[in-house]
Amino acid sequence: MQQTWFITGSSRGLGRALARAALDAGDTVAATARRPEALADLVAEYGDRVRPIALDVTDPDAVGAALAEAREVFGRVDVVVNNAGYANVAPIETADDADVREQFETNFWGVYHVSKAAIPLLRAQGGGLVIQFSSVGGRVGGSPGIASYQAAKFAIDGFSRVLRAETAPFGVKVLVVEPSGFRTDWAGASMTVHEVPEAYAGTVGAAVRDPATFPGDPERAAAILVRVAKRDDVPEHLPLGAVASAMSVAQDERLLASDRRWAAVSVSADVGQPYPVELPDDVLG
Ligand SMILES: NC(=O)c1ccc[n+]([C@@H]2O[C@H](COP(=O)([O-])OP(=O)(O)OC[C@H]3O[C@@H](n4cnc5c(N)ncnc54)[C@H](OP(=O)(O)O)[C@@H]3O)[C@@H](O)[C@H]2O)c1
Repeated sequence: MQQTWFITGSSRGLGRALARAALDAGDTVAATARRPEALADLVAEYGDRVRPIALDVTDPDAVGAALAEAREVFGRVDVVVNNAGYANVAPIETADDADVREQFETNFWGVYHVSKAAIPLLRAQGGGLVIQFSSVGGRVGGSPGIASYQAAKFAIDGFSRVLRAETAPFGVKVLVVEPSGFRTDWAGASMTVHEVPEAYAGTVGAAVRDPATFPGDPERAAAILVRVAKRDDVPEHLPLGAVASAMSVAQDERLLASDRRWAAVSVSADVGQPYPVELPDDVLG
């Protein structure tokens, strides 16, 4: 099954690996990037199966034009990938508000613009797949220093659940990808680490890591996603990496245990239900 991909942020990292993996699988790719010249080598190698398109995802007009160009060049778009994203590091207490909002412009609003603009196209052609790059941090959360980024990733998941419900009748599937650490520029050149006050040295300061130590292989992630995109049965969420897998399962088990422990109390808030009920034992730890 030959597919046409539309990928944001394909100049580097996971987006670039995904563009190459799709091309290697015989697919066609609208490879969008803020600096489309960074894709010259892919064009030299794959010719007109790849179309570099200039796109900063924070510009909704440019998003519409880029999708229209992809549709015009390839006739359809089967897989829309919201990959563009980055994180800067600062404690919430000292974070620069403008920087926090700016990260949201790319990490959440970029996903919103592309998803929204893709709906009419996908609906008209009878379906497609939207792949949203969240993070294992967008399921588990709690990583010191990247509140804006992680809040945006949670927002992507909430947005994508509604997108899935609204577009399923049109044949659209929505896959939220949740990677752990991958060897890209995410924690390197793409990340600004703001000054970390002494009081946050053990939390925010300790969280800054060398991406070369991350176990995730972008080429493997990309090849996996290309195979998944060719299935009928696509998961709603896909953790990628051993850490992402272990953390997601542990988080969901913790939530499940807590929800079950408090279930009688939860139910008791409704009219007609037994009330009051005993709270669970008040034990610490
Ligand atoms: N690597 C990890 O450990 C990891 C873990 C969990 C989730 N993720 C997610 O995976 C996705 C890809 O990240 P990566 O690891 O490949 O990082 P990366 O190597 O830093 O690449 C990020 C890409 O996003 C692009 N980008 C940033 N802002 C953009 C904007 N406003 N418009 C268009 N493109 C923009 C960059 O383009 P420029 O070249 O123009 O800057 C670059 O191509 C992100 O959503 C990230 O949050 C990564």
